Amino acid sequence: MSEPAKGTTVLAVENDASFWDDHDTLRRCLGEPIPRIPPWFGYDERGSELFESITGLPTYYLTRAERGLLERHADEIADVVGGSHLAELGSGSAKKTRLLLSACARRRHTVYFPIDVSREMLDFSARALTTAVPGLTVTGLWGRYEAGLTWLHDNVAAPLVVAFLGSNLGNTTPGERAALLARISSALRPGDGFLVSADLLKPAETFETCYNDPPHHSAFAEFRLNHLTHLNRRFGANFDIEHFRPHAWYDHRDEVVVGHLTATEDQVISLPGLGITTQLRTGDSINVGFSAKFDRDRFVAEIAAHGLRAEAQWIDPTWRYGIFLFRRG
Ligand SMILES: C[S@@+](CC[C@H](N)C(=O)[O-])C[C@H]1O[C@@H](n2cnc3c(N)ncnc32)[C@H](O)[C@@H]1O
Repeated sequence: MSEPAKGTTVLAVENDASFWDDHDTLRRCLGEPIPRIPPWFGYDERGSELFESITGLPTYYLTRAERGLLERHADEIADVVGGSHLAELGSGSAKKTRLLLSACARRRHTVYFPIDVSREMLDFSARALTTAVPGLTVTGLWGRYEAGLTWLHDNVAAPLVVAFLGSNLGNTTPGERAALLARISSALRPGDGFLVSADLLKPAETFETCYNDPPHHSAFAEFRLNHLTHLNRRFGANFDIEHFRPHAWYDHRDEVVVGHLTATEDQVISLPGLGITTQLRTGDSINVGFSAKFDRDRFVAEIAAHGLRAEAQWIDPTWRYGIFLFRRG
């Protein structure tokens, strides 16, 4: 594992990466009517690399839409959000965030707290940002969102902005989203900001083109299959990735793009590390990703219900993709 750059720190906010050993959550998710693998299991070292490849696919518009908004509006956003401490949930490579951090650091010395389960991405982003952005201090928080938010609440007294970019808030079920928004709201103090992006509703075809590999590319397929490879390695499972078909489709009723691995033959799966054996029939699926899509007004109302007041928004009319600023009342 590479060391963080001089002048940067990465703190473990969950004991010894215990999120990889959260057997209870994994057992519960795998026991759902359509078995599900919790999102963070997709981001071991290989999964994080594959997600970066997805962001470069010609059909994956989310990263381009968000980068475009930040290129156009980073100065204005930096003025409006204020504060010198900015945290980011699920920061990944933080390549887009750099635009905002540069604008913030031009105005005032800024401390950035990326929060991520990927130690490799935290080390990479801390190194890259410290080199590229003068006037920026980076303290990475290695762990899940909840542990990062608790650490911030206990350790940062200065006015804080928590960012949640990449439309990552959508990578949750509605129940998980409500619980996470409650945690975010309670980690903030009156006057703190919440900067969150959302992919807005558009035709199913646009979503399905975006979330499946275009011809001659395989980043999405490899990313989805890597969930199984990860479970094989960590829990001694026997998933045979040759017998799963990765694909994504848009569920109109629930307004969510669902990523599935569908069994192409009957199989008995055992995960000795979890004490689980389960049977999959041909056509059965495992859910390896939710990406909720949002109606703008309902999105704002959903967040406002957690004591966060809508303050500003920046929307790209082409891709119907928005960045929204809320303020803790
Ligand atoms: C879809 S990627 C987005 C990365 C980046 N925000 C972007 O827009 O390109 C999701 C990121 O969140 C991290 N992540 C997923 N679930 C997490 C959790 N529960 N706690 C902390 N990090 C998580 C992953 O490791 C990954 O870096």
